[in-house]
Amino acid sequence: MSSLAVCPGSYDPITLGHLDIVRRALTFVDGVVIGVANNPAKKYLFPLEQRVALARAAVAELGLSAVTVEPVEGLLADYVRERGITAIVKGLRGSADLDGEQAMALLNRQMCGVETVFVMGDQSLSHIASSYVKEIFSHGAGYPGLVPQVVAQALVEAYEGGS
Ligand code: PNS
Repeated sequence: MSSLAVCPGSYDPITLGHLDIVRRALTFVDGVVIGVANNPAKKYLFPLEQRVALARAAVAELGLSAVTVEPVEGLLADYVRERGITAIVKGLRGSADLDGEQAMALLNRQMCGVETVFVMGDQSLSHIASSYVKEIFSHGAGYPGLVPQVVAQALVEAYEGGS
């Protein structure tokens, strides 16, 4: 039986840091679903459908195989159970990330019985966060090396449009 991990997140938008975690997950599972979900604590630049479309375009741009992108519209735990997911994989940039993740990992395990596996991202990408990327692009033409080209273009267009 093949193993399938979900890498859940807001992906507003997907960054090179997120995609590094997806690549690392593929070293221990057969396939990865990038699960684009809503976090009620966040106000999004891109609506869910566009976050999904950008993540799909980013996966294609980087030529990642065995990776799909799907919206997760309800509880992640329900999605995990329904899809027969083997593991939830989350990236850590540093110890501060773990503080926020601990309760979610325990709640998800309680609700669906599936473990969350934490993966350390590449040190050269540990400073990249979607929130900072948006702040940078909101001030002008953007900066290379943070997001895939297709995402950079979408960010430029979003801020040109006055978002
Ligand atoms: O990128 P983020 O915003 O840190 O990701 C958080 C996210 C979207 C993974 C989390 O809010 C989530 O799992 N949302 C789906 C709804 C859900 O299951 N909520 C209960 C979490 S214990």
